[in-house]
Amino acid sequence: RAVSDTAAGHLDDAVRMSTTTMSTPHAHRRRALVPCYLAALAGLLFGLDIGVISGALPFLSKEFQVSDRMQEWIVSSMMLGAAGGALAAGELSSRYGRKSALLVASVLFLIGSALCAAAWSAHVLIVARLILGLAVGVASFTAPLYLSEISPPALRGSMISLYQLMITVGILAAFLSNTAFSFSGSWRWMLGIVAFPAAVLLCGVVALPSSPRWLMSRGRRTEARHILLRLRGDPADADAELRDIDGVLHVQQRGWALLRHQPAFRRSLALGMLLQVIQQLTGINVVMYYAPRILDLAGFASAQHQIGATVMVGLVNVLATFVAIALVDRSGRKAVLYAGFAIMATGMGALAILFHLGVASRFEQVLAVGMLLLLVAGFAMSAGPLVWVLCSEIQPARGRDFGIAVSTFTNWISNALTGATFLSLINAFGPAATFGGYAVLNAAFIAVVFYLVPETRGVTLEQIEQKLLAGFPLRDIGR
Ligand code: GLC
Repeated sequence: RAVSDTAAGHLDDAVRMSTTTMSTPHAHRRRALVPCYLAALAGLLFGLDIGVISGALPFLSKEFQVSDRMQEWIVSSMMLGAAGGALAAGELSSRYGRKSALLVASVLFLIGSALCAAAWSAHVLIVARLILGLAVGVASFTAPLYLSEISPPALRGSMISLYQLMITVGILAAFLSNTAFSFSGSWRWMLGIVAFPAAVLLCGVVALPSSPRWLMSRGRRTEARHILLRLRGDPADADAELRDIDGVLHVQQRGWALLRHQPAFRRSLALGMLLQVIQQLTGINVVMYYAPRILDLAGFASAQHQIGATVMVGLVNVLATFVAIALVDRSGRKAVLYAGFAIMATGMGALAILFHLGVASRFEQVLAVGMLLLLVAGFAMSAGPLVWVLCSEIQPARGRDFGIAVSTFTNWISNALTGATFLSLINAFGPAATFGGYAVLNAAFIAVVFYLVPETRGVTLEQIEQKLLAGFPLRDIGR
């Protein structure tokens, strides 16, 4: 089936696919877009919380007179909270459902951002960022999982990529709002503004349908059928999907037991963790957190240049994600990943060479910024969205919650590690060797994709599971 080029085209496809004989086209359009709104808001908050701190840090550090050490804590408490939140979300969303987990996340977002804005000391800020982290962790686990469970198989990749798109929009929005508030130095606004989308998320989540796959895992078949009917429109489609779910889902989630007794689950779990480590080891967050510092190293000393280029980083990150959305369900996951890692290896490699030779002339400086943008584009069109897509696809139904919780946890731990080591690496080995190291890693990931990553385009979650359990090699559990 032809899939149109743009994200909007994909949404239209989603709407068309759910066209039903039971209610008006307008009602279908609304229904088909509900999960997209959710993806939008949960992702937006994730992105805002990643992007917001770099701008606020200089101002709040001055007000509270905090040491470098304390600053590191203020930054990383969010990631540590997120790692914890991701783990807790597994249990939360398998016991009480995805919708309840998203409700908890929204409330925590609200409390965390309000407390950030009102913080009266650096310690309070750390606690507030920890709470925000919990929210981000729960949301970053639940939103892609929920989307993978309610999307029509042919659009699953695009739907989950849409979630990543909103993460990038959140990061860009944070960079822009940081710039706007930096004139008055009001870091409380920079951090507090996140409370508004959090309130909207809270209202939106209340209206969401529960995941039919989760309902089935709790034995609530009638409700599951009802919701699938509403989502898919066509009763025949809904019943076929119910039968598919029946085929793999006889009992409740039981991640720990599966881990002990099922080698297939250990493999899918390891693959999920590996994918998330790889996503972070591309070095993307080094750019997200330290873009101004990298620009400084490349000879752009003025704050204006740094802000301008940082906003460009945010913009390219958003725009290139559209490429992934357009390609993921058409060209397939693996082809897109090969291209992305090759581009990132080129960007990092060129940066390494530039720094090795010494970035002196204006041309070399501009080239360095170009390479930074190339790297961001390579990530955003590939590993950024696709790792979230793959991680929510490859886990068997009975271990899905546990599996995705563990891979999301791995994402946040690796995120914290790359963020916390960059400055030390630069100080110890210099920028050329640091970027060179990242270039080598990105090149090596091409081989990892070739040998280990399955092609899951257009395959149902249940088909993936059957092959996984039948002992196929990981790269063959897709099509
Ligand atoms: C992905 C990564 C996240 C990163 C973002 C950048 O969502 O998981 O760590 O900050 O992309 O766009």
